[in-house]
Amino acid sequence: MLDQLEATRGELMKLVDAAADLPALEAVRVAALGKKGRVTQLMQGLKDIAPEARRDAGQALNRLKDEIEAALAKRKDGLGEAALDARLKTETLDLTLPTRPGGLGRIHPISQTIEELVQIFGAMGFSVAEGPDIDDDFHNFTALNFGPDHPARQMHDTFYLPPRPDGMPVVLRTHTSTVQIRTMMKAKPPFRIIVPGRTFRSDSDATHSPMFHQVEGLVIDETTHMGHLKGCLIDFCRAFFQLDDLPVRFRPSYFPFTEPSVEVDIGCSRKGGELKLGAGGDWLEILGCGMVHPNVLKNCGVDPTRYQGFAFGMGIDRIAMLKYGIPDLRPFFDADLRWLRHYGFVPLDPPSLAGGLSR
Ligand code: PHE
Repeated sequence: MLDQLEATRGELMKLVDAAADLPALEAVRVAALGKKGRVTQLMQGLKDIAPEARRDAGQALNRLKDEIEAALAKRKDGLGEAALDARLKTETLDLTLPTRPGGLGRIHPISQTIEELVQIFGAMGFSVAEGPDIDDDFHNFTALNFGPDHPARQMHDTFYLPPRPDGMPVVLRTHTSTVQIRTMMKAKPPFRIIVPGRTFRSDSDATHSPMFHQVEGLVIDETTHMGHLKGCLIDFCRAFFQLDDLPVRFRPSYFPFTEPSVEVDIGCSRKGGELKLGAGGDWLEILGCGMVHPNVLKNCGVDPTRYQGFAFGMGIDRIAMLKYGIPDLRPFFDADLRWLRHYGFVPLDPPSLAGGLSR
């Protein structure tokens, strides 16, 4: 019995060493320790051995079983590592290769446009500020120098929410100018901010949506004047529309919160019914702006005898439509994937001034 056992150990150990891969090793395990395996059969043979020899034989067999199991486990580790090495060699991944952006979805034109605005104004030293979509009559109108019965309160097609307990009317902000007030009341001048965000007016057709987007700009310090306003906005228009010779015109206008107030037009042509930006003898209005009214500064605790500056506001959706030739505003908010695939932007190619903003 013991001789037979030694021979079996020798053979099985050789088989374990010779197993070339994990399936072969599993076959060896079954041949040795499986229900009909060699070691199992020897164990079953114990009952035929004389009782006095049985104990030694049993112990020797258990040792053999332990040794085989240990050898199998060791070989399995080795083969596992080798298998992993082999697999890793076939699965190399070159991280320097550009990804295939098709599967990553698309950036919405509004997000893209906001990112472009941040890039352009960021390079001019503006930082981004934000405020709440739900605001009150004070921030949306009163502090912005709208008198109590000012007709512009009606012109804004305001959505009203239930008033506060103290009677203060609550509104969905009709413009991002609310954040001029919030910024100036919260900190000390100088200020140089842009405020992209959602705005709301009860109005709906192909170019108006009850929820739309604006970007506000505010510059307040001791020296900024109308010349800075013009330079800043001319530079912006040409950078954003990527037309170095884009004509830009300033036309007198009226807002309660700026004096003087101006509207900005960019050059275009409408020949043959097709709108084309650039020098074409025609004009298209794109934003409102002006020098911040002294009353607004006063309402925010900023001394108008010392500080001055300009503000502007423009529709983000509108400039996105113009730049990217999107004819209808409504699908912007339909979450239609086909529209997004068509008009959206590749995620891994974010706009930058150095990269030419958008390609
Ligand atoms: N808030 C104005 C609007 O919504 C735009 C504007 C902002 C005009 C700042 C002048 C200065 O129409």
